[in-house]
Amino acid sequence: MSATDDAESTYLIDVEEGAETSRLLEQNMLYNRAQGGLFPTELDLTPIQSVLDIGCGPGGWALEVAYTYKHLGVVGIDINSAMIRYAFAQARTRKLQNVSFEVMDASQPLDFPDASFDLINTRFVASFLTRATWPDLLKECMRLLKPGGILQLTEVELGITNSAALERLSGYIYQSLYEQKRNFSVNGRSIGIVHMLGQLLKQAGYTNICRKSFFMDSSFGAELHYSTIKDIELLYPLIKPYLVKSNVVDEAVFDEDYKTMGTDVMRHDFVALSFGLIAWGHKPLS
Ligand SMILES: C[S@@+](CC[C@H](N)C(=O)[O-])C[C@H]1O[C@@H](n2cnc3c(N)ncnc32)[C@H](O)[C@@H]1O
Repeated sequence: MSATDDAESTYLIDVEEGAETSRLLEQNMLYNRAQGGLFPTELDLTPIQSVLDIGCGPGGWALEVAYTYKHLGVVGIDINSAMIRYAFAQARTRKLQNVSFEVMDASQPLDFPDASFDLINTRFVASFLTRATWPDLLKECMRLLKPGGILQLTEVELGITNSAALERLSGYIYQSLYEQKRNFSVNGRSIGIVHMLGQLLKQAGYTNICRKSFFMDSSFGAELHYSTIKDIELLYPLIKPYLVKSNVVDEAVFDEDYKTMGTDVMRHDFVALSFGLIAWGHKPLS
């Protein structure tokens, strides 16, 4: 689906577009802030030494973890070699010696021995997983975690807004995810993953499952208005080829909605609220 020079990717966006790399870096900063940090404050980091970030993109989260927690050894993996080159170059230039990056396909068994990590992080992997492949990844993470290790999953729902055009654009994403069985929605009216994170962890055998929600106010005048609107304005042209190819909208209709959305989000009465969930569970000790 996506034009990568690597293994066949199910990611919704063509990451060979440089714009996607920069969008992900800015999105990383936005979400680190909205989430209140790199890890939920409730999480006890004392026993953590080794961290794996799956689908790390250009490395924003992994680089910040390595920078902030110098005693941790951090590894980021991504299917796309351009992302990994970018992340690696950042680490080298900033002389961060406790982080490394590798090209790996998370839909396949990962090239690490059993019990390699104390904590595994995934964020926005719903962008390439399907209803069928979520359990496989959680099982593989169980293999890679040390006993007592933590799997931390973060996913979001798109904003609820008072822009009919933006709601239609979101709707095209919901519909394509639903029709392609990429999510757990029963009606194609949501991204359809946050409500399932706890249950997926439980079904995969994780224990002490915890959840923490966060929300983002992107309304006109709100602190996050500019950065979220910038993310939206970049996201939709990048995801348009996937949506048009999925036959959920034709190009002319999409372009009209995108144009109207651009005007709506700059109206002084524009409101938008989105939310996300961080869910984490532990690998049983025995
Ligand atoms: C939405 S981005 C997530 C970025 C990052 N996790 C963050 O929070 O900023 C999804 C990433 O998953 C990568 N990806 C897609 N399919 C993958 C696969 N099968 N295995 C590993 N990474 C994959 C994409 O190349 C992209 O960089």
